[in-house]
Amino acid sequence: MERFATKSQQYEAVVRRLRALLEGETDAIANAANTAALVYELVPDLNWAGFYFRRGDELVLGPFQGRVACVRIPFGRGVCGAAAARDESLVVHNVHQFSGHIACDAASNSECVVPLRNQGTVVGVLDLDSPHVGRFDDEDRQGLEAIAEVYVAASDLDSILR
Ligand code: SME
Repeated sequence: MERFATKSQQYEAVVRRLRALLEGETDAIANAANTAALVYELVPDLNWAGFYFRRGDELVLGPFQGRVACVRIPFGRGVCGAAAARDESLVVHNVHQFSGHIACDAASNSECVVPLRNQGTVVGVLDLDSPHVGRFDDEDRQGLEAIAEVYVAASDLDSILR
């Protein structure tokens, strides 16, 4: 990633790139795939970046970059399910100390999950994993929330929600 003075400037650059990337395209799957790829390429020290979408009372795996992942996460379970059920972003310093954490890749040690909100409802999450303990902080959370907002604003989510 280009060098910036602060992490928030780094995320502003990612948000600008993402806006340009999604411009004129509303397909929610294609946009999720490109968002995951851009985040994985530009945000340093990740081993997974991707989406889960709500299907009834579960989250189901969407487009991602990284190793194969668990497909279904019950609402409320794991870091992703907890973020979705509570409708709040979660920064987990050490996933091995998070009760109920779902280990998809043994290399993951920290995690940041932000909800995707469509017309006030949680429709999924954007999930980032890192092999480094303590990789994510509040600036990452804010940056990822901005990325999630750009994705939701650009994408026709009604077409994929069931
Ligand atoms: N660790 C997540 C599961 C998804 S993977 O990290 C890709 C969780 O506890 O919800």
